[in-house]
Amino acid sequence: MNTKFGNTDLVTSPIVYGCMGGAGAFGAQEESDSIDALREAHNAGINFFDTAEAYGAGYSEQLLEKALGNKRQDLVISSKVATPNLAPDDILAACDRSLKNLGTDYIDLYMLHWPNRNVPLEDSIGALKKLKEEGKIRWYGVSNFGSKDMDDALSLGEISVNQVPYHLFFRAIEFEVQPKCEAAGVPIMCYSSLMQGLLAGKYKSLQDFPVDRARTRMFDHRKWEQAVHKEEGAEEAGQHLLDALWKLVDETGMSMEELAVAWLKSRPAVGGVIVGTRNGEQSRGLKKLLEAKAEPAVLQALTEASDPLKSALGSDIDMWGKGRTR
Ligand SMILES: NC(=O)c1ccc[n+]([C@@H]2O[C@H](COP(=O)([O-])OP(=O)(O)OC[C@H]3O[C@@H](n4cnc5c(N)ncnc54)[C@H](OP(=O)(O)O)[C@@H]3O)[C@@H](O)[C@H]2O)c1
Repeated sequence: MNTKFGNTDLVTSPIVYGCMGGAGAFGAQEESDSIDALREAHNAGINFFDTAEAYGAGYSEQLLEKALGNKRQDLVISSKVATPNLAPDDILAACDRSLKNLGTDYIDLYMLHWPNRNVPLEDSIGALKKLKEEGKIRWYGVSNFGSKDMDDALSLGEISVNQVPYHLFFRAIEFEVQPKCEAAGVPIMCYSSLMQGLLAGKYKSLQDFPVDRARTRMFDHRKWEQAVHKEEGAEEAGQHLLDALWKLVDETGMSMEELAVAWLKSRPAVGGVIVGTRNGEQSRGLKKLLEAKAEPAVLQALTEASDPLKSALGSDIDMWGKGRTR
């Protein structure tokens, strides 16, 4: 089931374990639950773990070491350098911090977390090349890079990944970024694959979704005062999709998360579907997601159900704000 990841020599599971929630991104979190979640994800058959220095200011990386440090040789670890740290010296220092947090002497895949307009991309990529030559990272890439940013990154040489938001509720990458990645042979790592839990089959209505997560562009900005965007959202189209998903759950006998993940796996250029969990029990459910696949007619029905929302949200690949990516 594991396959070679793009132009790298990494052999990875189709589901990537997302370590952000375990560091408290979704509210109060017991450390014992985060550790169980990581170990059960590994027991379920996942070998690919995605973290970042920004998740809990290094705590997420430390948790990964604590939970699975003794399995290092079995793991493929991706981490990301935070946006303010993209000047070359800052990248080198950030990587050393991450290596220490992770208790390892190499990171398999290292990404620029978001573009930083104040630092020439060439300089940041130069630092990544240096880290690769030194053996501190094995491969590198980018995250949250839109179409023009991808052109710039590709012109500077070998890019092994673009990690972007992609799921049934947010398909902005399909307009330009996904075809570009496909043409260049750059795998996409999809994040928020379960739309922060909305696609985990717990909500009948968008109105029931926790208000602190209702801050993406699909929701009306008045729901959450700290929302980055200031728009009315596209909740009607979102609810239409949620209703269609529940109908397909009934018709197929598949869970909503199986439908969501099967759909992502079927899309072009997808090299890894990142899913986060909060505890051991949720992680045990990942085994089914590793195997999830759906009939072509079901995949087609999913695509059609989310087409109106795709049109309403447009091509800006930023799930939270507008005009920050390009
Ligand atoms: N590059 C970037 O800028 C970026 C940005 C965001 C995320 N990411 C990556 O993507 C990863 C995943 O995205 P995400 O954290 O946004 O969330 P996600 O994977 O879309 O959703 C995670 C949530 O789904 C729910 N869930 C998962 N399995 C479940 C199960 N078996 N039963 C019930 N509920 C279940 C949990 O909700 P509850 O909390 O309600 O239990 C969990 O917190 C992150 O950890 C991170 O690695 C990257």
